[in-house]
Amino acid sequence: MFEHIDAYPGDPILSLNEDFQKDPRTSKVNLSIGIYFDDDGRLPVMRAVREAEAAILNEPGPKPYLPMAGFAHYRDAVQALVFGETNPARAEGRIATVQTLGGSGALKVGADFIRRYFPQSQVWVSDPTWENHRFIFERAGFEVNTYPYYDKATGGLKFDAMLAAIDALPARSIVLLHACCHNPTGVDLDRAQWERLIGVLQERDLLPFVDMAYQGFGAGLDDDAFAVRELARRGIPALVANSFSKNFSLYGERCGGLHVICEDAGAAHRVLGQLTGSVRSNYSNPPTHGAKIVTRVLNTPALKESWQGELAAMCQRIARMRVAIHDGLRDHVHGEALTRYVKQRGMFTYTGLSAAQVDRLREEFGVYILRSGRMCVAGLNDTNVGTVAESIAKVLAD
Ligand code: LMR
Repeated sequence: MFEHIDAYPGDPILSLNEDFQKDPRTSKVNLSIGIYFDDDGRLPVMRAVREAEAAILNEPGPKPYLPMAGFAHYRDAVQALVFGETNPARAEGRIATVQTLGGSGALKVGADFIRRYFPQSQVWVSDPTWENHRFIFERAGFEVNTYPYYDKATGGLKFDAMLAAIDALPARSIVLLHACCHNPTGVDLDRAQWERLIGVLQERDLLPFVDMAYQGFGAGLDDDAFAVRELARRGIPALVANSFSKNFSLYGERCGGLHVICEDAGAAHRVLGQLTGSVRSNYSNPPTHGAKIVTRVLNTPALKESWQGELAAMCQRIARMRVAIHDGLRDHVHGEALTRYVKQRGMFTYTGLSAAQVDRLREEFGVYILRSGRMCVAGLNDTNVGTVAESIAKVLAD
């Protein structure tokens, strides 16, 4: 019966992370998966999360199914965080929001929804993008293409080429964008570039699908959401996926949201109904625990303030590690190949190392980065950054 089923080749990120767990070397360093580790190399439990969780566990009660669209207080709190409390689109009821299984769940529910209602459209993703974007949209039935993005020569953005390619797409094409902290390159658009791009998306009648998995890890919670807030403010139809895996350090709780910006409240009502149908046919309804934590933190001013402070400290630690790896490589890497470590934003840096160099780093030195050359700088700490820099220098020297 199953003779024709090929072996799964593994996932370039999650399978590598599993290989890391199995590696017996004590000196190994995990810079592969996009997870924030603290300076002791531990996955943090944020203070606000701990307090909210303790309060929730003190109020034991029955565990019914949540509504298909998710916990209502969660949906409202998440929408306010993503779009800003006072965004007119919220007051006008133009945003349909459902609770999802992390950011990937939001992408999948959104992909199924647009596949059903825009069957002629194709999807366009940045070159390169997070590997799972392609997998999710292809498995939802889409043809997935790329638009120019990363400039290998400068370690920056090919903005003109990106804009020209998007400007030439057929109306109703789906354009996948990263709101901030681009994964895998760490290269983002600035405000002026977003404004020009949003103008083109509107003029060409394109449908943006914005993935915001790292809100708060770039320029701050509000600035990172600039593009999605601007789309909503201007009334441009769009989908937005957000995740609390990274900024709440709640990876395994699978907390996220899918938001569809609509032209009016009537459309938002119908879209919400169809998103609900998409949830029902995928997994019926989302889980409770993580959503309760996020809701309590976002709706309790003291906890929210504590969470924001801790998130800001995480970003400062990443910035410090960017400087440390930059300084450690100063004698071995030059020009833009060095400055990218401090210029690129968020959890990732695109090192420019080849797959063969990455393999050597892993095999000889136990330093794990993705074969694309993506390094998660949030896995560096004061103890390992020196050896990581030395290992890279040795690999580059041969
Ligand atoms: C990553 O890019 O490493 C993270 O988003 C984890 C994942 O699921 O791929």
